Amino acid sequence: MTTDEALAKLPELLKRDLDQPLCVCNQIIKRVVIEAIAEGADTLQKVQQQTFASDGTGCCKRQVQALIEAVYASDAT
Ligand code: FES
Repeated sequence: MTTDEALAKLPELLKRDLDQPLCVCNQIIKRVVIEAIAEGADTLQKVQQQTFASDGTGCCKRQVQALIEAVYASDAT
């Protein structure tokens, strides 16, 4: 899917601060993480491999996971 399609699936709360680092440890902005998810990174591990987000101390794992779940939740059924 495109990044715009992924963004359309996110609740308003998760669409904020797209150009701010989601992963502060590695300075990965949220938009980059969402792009990777849109391009098929549907697990935390894939997002880590592609963007290095959450690859530091792992403190943003829950945020990355929340984005993955929000984007793919509607496809799960
Ligand atoms: S903020 Fe992403 S690993 Fe710490």
